[in-house]
Amino acid sequence: MLVFGIESSCDETAFALLEDGKKVISECVASQISIHQPYGGVVPELAARSHLQASMSLFCELWSKAQQNHKIDGQDIDLIAVTAGPGLMGSLLVGAEIAKGLAMSLNVPIIRVNHVLAHVHGIFLKLPTPPLPALSYVISGGHSHLFYMNSPTSFSLVAQTIDDACGECFDKVAHMLQLPYPGGPHLEKLAQKGDPHRFTMPTMIKEKHRLELSYSGLKTYVFNLLRQLRAESSVPLDMQTYADIAAAFQQEAFLQLVRKLDAALIQYPDVKAVYVSGGVACNQALRQMFDHHFSKRMPTYFPDPSLCTDNAQMIASLGYHQVMDWIHQGNTLQDLYASSFNWEPFSRFSCPKTSTQQS
Ligand code: KG4
Ligand code: ZN
Repeated sequence: MLVFGIESSCDETAFALLEDGKKVISECVASQISIHQPYGGVVPELAARSHLQASMSLFCELWSKAQQNHKIDGQDIDLIAVTAGPGLMGSLLVGAEIAKGLAMSLNVPIIRVNHVLAHVHGIFLKLPTPPLPALSYVISGGHSHLFYMNSPTSFSLVAQTIDDACGECFDKVAHMLQLPYPGGPHLEKLAQKGDPHRFTMPTMIKEKHRLELSYSGLKTYVFNLLRQLRAESSVPLDMQTYADIAAAFQQEAFLQLVRKLDAALIQYPDVKAVYVSGGVACNQALRQMFDHHFSKRMPTYFPDPSLCTDNAQMIASLGYHQVMDWIHQGNTLQDLYASSFNWEPFSRFSCPKTSTQQS
């Protein structure tokens, strides 16, 4: 089955062609970082306009790669998988309308995909398929969730952040440390030069039985620490101080993930693997900390760094698995076609019982 994946939920426009849920035929991503960088964050209206501007040339790029390397024709496409949410409404609408136009012209159905759940499919795109059941973190700029998974399409929400997402907190702390947007990768680099023990960061949600995450207190702590250090110093703070704060912040941000996962593993004793996906999973210090802490008990899985941030391969992969479930339940692609056009994207995250639901 050849799936055309479309992602446009935030500030990356991405298309991919995926065969049988594993083989990437062609893929491309247009990043909007340079457009939003002067503003220090994503400007929704600019994001939506940029998706529109980028999509035609990106589509041509994807198509010419697919035709040259694999002799793919429009008639070969069986399914369109598109991000239906959560995300920025203007951005999502662009992807949704591209999906509907393509589906109508090719006479193929659309499967709607939840962007947060799709991040995990950066891991399922790898061969061989990782073990299940698993506890699976999605740690991105907009979301920090922990799911219990017992199939590639079955997600039960175990915990989530009660305030900021981890990546959002990285971006805001990076901004305080005078690093460019998006701050996560820059903060990681700076932290490599720092001493994580010079400053002590507060522990959020200390109660062991509580599995929720929290990042806004850590962000406020760094803000107040910088204000205090600046007030005490007659000269601007030096780079070493910034690096030490970055290292202490990053360590505490990730230790929180380790502590909560430790507690969750007691509640879910059948778990055979730990997954971490989403943009923050690019971070090498996070990967090392998880490998160090969990690898004696069970394997830890991360997507390749290129599949941690937003891409369309993960959308096509989850879409493919959802449709396989749909077919195994006795439905057909024609049934799916009937519900392919009369829907709108959603902006806020909600966890479906099973991700195959089309309502
Ligand atoms: O998954 P993603 O591309 O977009 C969302 O769905 O939100 O994640 C983007 C987030 C940004 O907050 C970015 O700063 C963070 O991932 N990020 C990182 C790193 N690379 C990206 N955070 C920490 N360390 C990194 N190396
Ligand atoms: Zn994302």
